[in-house]
Amino acid sequence: MNDFATKMAAAAAQVDALLDQLLAAPADAVEADHRVYDAMRHSVMAGGKRLRPFLVMSSADLAGADPTGALRVAAAIELIHSYSLVHDDLPAMDDDDLRRGQPTVHIAFDEATAILAGDGLLTRAFEVVADPATHQDGNIRAAVMLEMARAAGVDGMVGGQMRDLAAETAPLTDAAAVLALQARKTGALIRFSCLAGGLLGQSNNNEINALDTYGQNLGLIFQITDDLLDVEGDEALMGKAVGKDADRGKGTLVGLMGAEKARKMAEELGRGGNDALQIFGTKSELLQSVTRFVLDRRH
Ligand code: IPE
Ligand code: IPE
Ligand code: MG
Ligand code: MG
Ligand code: MG
Repeated sequence: MNDFATKMAAAAAQVDALLDQLLAAPADAVEADHRVYDAMRHSVMAGGKRLRPFLVMSSADLAGADPTGALRVAAAIELIHSYSLVHDDLPAMDDDDLRRGQPTVHIAFDEATAILAGDGLLTRAFEVVADPATHQDGNIRAAVMLEMARAAGVDGMVGGQMRDLAAETAPLTDAAAVLALQARKTGALIRFSCLAGGLLGQSNNNEINALDTYGQNLGLIFQITDDLLDVEGDEALMGKAVGKDADRGKGTLVGLMGAEKARKMAEELGRGGNDALQIFGTKSELLQSVTRFVLDRRH
């Protein structure tokens, strides 16, 4: 493994250990409680790249924030991301059977359990950030929660998912509308993950703005590469179905302008994001290498 992959794996191991604790059923759990806990664990503990946690931890390191609190925010955003996947895979949405190399939650359990497991993951995320263990200053916890709520909610991920479904029947014909959709459905959680470290570390406005620009660009390139991998990727490597977006009429840049132009746009966004980080000097090298990781990823 190269240095970057080693760092990402070490961060993933830390976040996995905390997620395992955060999703432990209480001692008095009855069978029904265990069922929803098991469904939540089925989604979260199946792995995944843990990119969003890595962004929280790396941006926190850059901003000089306490790593213990940052790890809790990292786990929280992974809980929200996992919830978004559980619901995204439901028959009423993308109707997928495979996720993270496992049957999706509604296949392994049932639809009602998948809906409740998603709800449980989302709310646990807020519980984790609200806990004083995340930061001793309640104002900072509230600032992180405010941005997290905005990113997850109707002006962020949820709204983006609605636009994504709407575009299946009312196709988007311009790139700006697709980018606006993707900034919400995928970009918002990734942008939050990059901002979170700055909020925890009480970065100044210029630094927050730099993390914001970097996070927005990275969010867009993450979805562009997801859409490229839907066309060019390998199901076994991805752990999810590929080749579905065009059939469902998903609004993607790949569909609108072709793979080559979409990739070029992703590369340009990557350069712009890394340029924004220049104000941090060499301290930003790790975040800059995330851009390359996302552009070159095969899963
Ligand atoms: C998949 O996200 C869904 C999108 C937002 C495109 P990831 O590719 O980060 O999924 P995991 O967490 O690695 O499974
Ligand atoms: C999902 O986008 C974005 C979410 C908010 C979950 P996709 O629908 O393209 O993600 P995959 O391809 O199923 O992972
Ligand atoms: Mg979807
Ligand atoms: Mg999907
Ligand atoms: Mg996809």
